[in-house]
Amino acid sequence: SIVPVILSGGNGTRLWPLSRETYPKQLLPLVGPESMLQQTARRAAAIAPPLVVCSDAHRFLIAEQLRQAGTPPAALVIEPVGRNTAPAVACAALMAVERDPQARLLVMPSDHRVRDGAAFARAVEQAAATPADLVCFGVPATRPHTGYGYIELGEPVGEAGARRIVRFTEKPDMATAESFVAGGRHAWNAGIFLFRAGRILDELAARRPEMLDLCRAAVAQARVDLDFVRLAPEPFTAITGESIDYAVMEHVDDAAVVALDAGWSDIGSWSALHEESDQDPSGNTLVGDVLAIDCRDSYVRSEKPLVATVGLAGVTVIATDDAVLVADASRDQEVKAVVALLQAQG
Ligand code: GDD
Ligand code: MG
Repeated sequence: SIVPVILSGGNGTRLWPLSRETYPKQLLPLVGPESMLQQTARRAAAIAPPLVVCSDAHRFLIAEQLRQAGTPPAALVIEPVGRNTAPAVACAALMAVERDPQARLLVMPSDHRVRDGAAFARAVEQAAATPADLVCFGVPATRPHTGYGYIELGEPVGEAGARRIVRFTEKPDMATAESFVAGGRHAWNAGIFLFRAGRILDELAARRPEMLDLCRAAVAQARVDLDFVRLAPEPFTAITGESIDYAVMEHVDDAAVVALDAGWSDIGSWSALHEESDQDPSGNTLVGDVLAIDCRDSYVRSEKPLVATVGLAGVTVIATDDAVLVADASRDQEVKAVVALLQAQG
């Protein structure tokens, strides 16, 4: 069986001030009328009811959004604190093998856009037909983005069009990313995985035994109430956080990759959202009560007040009830520094 696992623990700080700790980007209707979580849940539900792993703070919002989308989860697995993706995947794997020792996990980030659901489903089928325990989904690496994992493509494996992964490099520095893009032998890791659950547990047992022991305890002592599975706080909090990319994917030598050609994009920043949005002939995207005179290549969004802009070029303006961001669009990766500063100031 394939068990979809939706990861919804991130906070999306580069989309401040819209994305907040209390209401992160995956729960906002940023691309279309449904949130990215809801869109992800639809892709998952086409396969099977998903395990949704999320933080305690978001459990009711998430349950309500899934109810509205008509995509009930198999369970909402609640983390007492965020410990990055490896423990979340490990706990989901432990729960899945209990029911089916042969289970496979389709790990799905909750904050991505996938335009073509049918193409996504075909890529999942292709991954499922690949004789490898650990399968990634690769997207053409078009820019030297340092926030992604890079997959060096190797020999074909199996009949389904998959390739062996020669090497997986998570978040390279800029020079390395530039050489990968120039070389033409790398794809971006989409952050979606098809894992044989037993194999990912074996890898963690070999490489991160402490983490796996704590996850085992957190699952064994979990408190189940209705659809909510509360991982036990004491063992889970003791885990040292790490992503599955660093904990496992960088170290295995028999993983495979299938191409994902489904209009994938990681809505990681305002400029990414701008690229994904409809634009007027001057390259502007205007959302909400906004008036723009003689502006170009700008993303201007208001959740409430009337916003008027004159003569902007390449600027991001986001107005909410209680905060306004004005930023050079080319520097919008630095928006997370604003959030860090605010957090430091308490
Ligand atoms: N449940 C849970 N708990 N989910 C989490 C946690 C956590 O502690 N931390 C992150 N997530 C969720 C995020 O909400 C997101 O949906 C997904 O897991 C991936 O986490 P990110 O923090 O967004 O990872 P990343 O973007 O830095 O890198 C990953 O995705 C890239 C593609 O977007 C990696 O897999 C890269 O290799 C990949 O290129
Ligand atoms: Mg991400």
